[in-house]
Amino acid sequence: MGTTEGATTEELLQLANELAGLDETPRDSGVHVPGTSIRRVIFALDANVGLLVLAKQLGYDAVIAHHPCATLLEQGTVYREHYRLVTRFGLSEAEARAEFGPALERTVRRLRNRRLRSLYYESPNQTFLEVDAARALGVAFLNIHNACDELGRRVGQAQLDAVLARDPAATLGDLVAAMYELPETRLARDHYDMPLELAIGDPTAPAGRAAFVHGCLSAPEEAIVRFYWRHGISTVMALHAAFEDLERLQARPEGALILTGHYAGDSYGFTPFVRALRARGLEVLCMGGAIDVDRGPWDGA
Ligand SMILES: [Fe+2]
Ligand SMILES: [Fe+2]
Repeated sequence: MGTTEGATTEELLQLANELAGLDETPRDSGVHVPGTSIRRVIFALDANVGLLVLAKQLGYDAVIAHHPCATLLEQGTVYREHYRLVTRFGLSEAEARAEFGPALERTVRRLRNRRLRSLYYESPNQTFLEVDAARALGVAFLNIHNACDELGRRVGQAQLDAVLARDPAATLGDLVAAMYELPETRLARDHYDMPLELAIGDPTAPAGRAAFVHGCLSAPEEAIVRFYWRHGISTVMALHAAFEDLERLQARPEGALILTGHYAGDSYGFTPFVRALRARGLEVLCMGGAIDVDRGPWDGA
């Protein structure tokens, strides 16, 4: 991938896989309309037909969306990465399967059914309309999900680990402050009005062990958060939580919960990828919640 000849869609996908240390492309990511000689790219959280038309109009060669696009029938299986993630904290995969497995597997089945249905109201911007539009426009189109999430998970976890390594008695407030050291967190609050928040817990309370539960297709549902709490990880950090889950967790908390907000949390993993693209000579325009910490535009943030 060089400055003069441009990149192929496959090279863009492989670059993300390599940065994240993934041997194969996860099932929530893929090239939907292949392209070559790509020099100018729009990178966005989600893509729709309007964005693809905009890309064409502005002379971009490719659109990279983060969230899954097209059908990707088995994308829901990536949610099973939650079984593996617990082992990074020394917890048992077998216990995870026993305790939150039934809830998780139901979610995997639900997601597959949703993909088979591909009803627009259930899966907006995740039908084949976007793929057909990109092909008709001659715009290359792909989405890169898990690789970027894994990159971001490492960034967020490193931030938490650094605080607790310096001071094992660090408070929840200390962890929140550490997350605001990252530009993505500040920009999400100041530019997008999406602050990182301590959703459950007292800022003056000790954080204890902390896990950034991210990079497994989607944010942890209630049973997964409770698993961490019940197995010695008193602080869980996630991007967001479904409203009903959040209400139940808040009604009967067994630990603390930090929510980064969706844009900041996802963008922790976009920053290294976008920098790698630019280092290879590509022009990248970040849009729609992909926070561009290097370019902006920002209103004084
Ligand atoms: Fe993500
Ligand atoms: Fe996301």
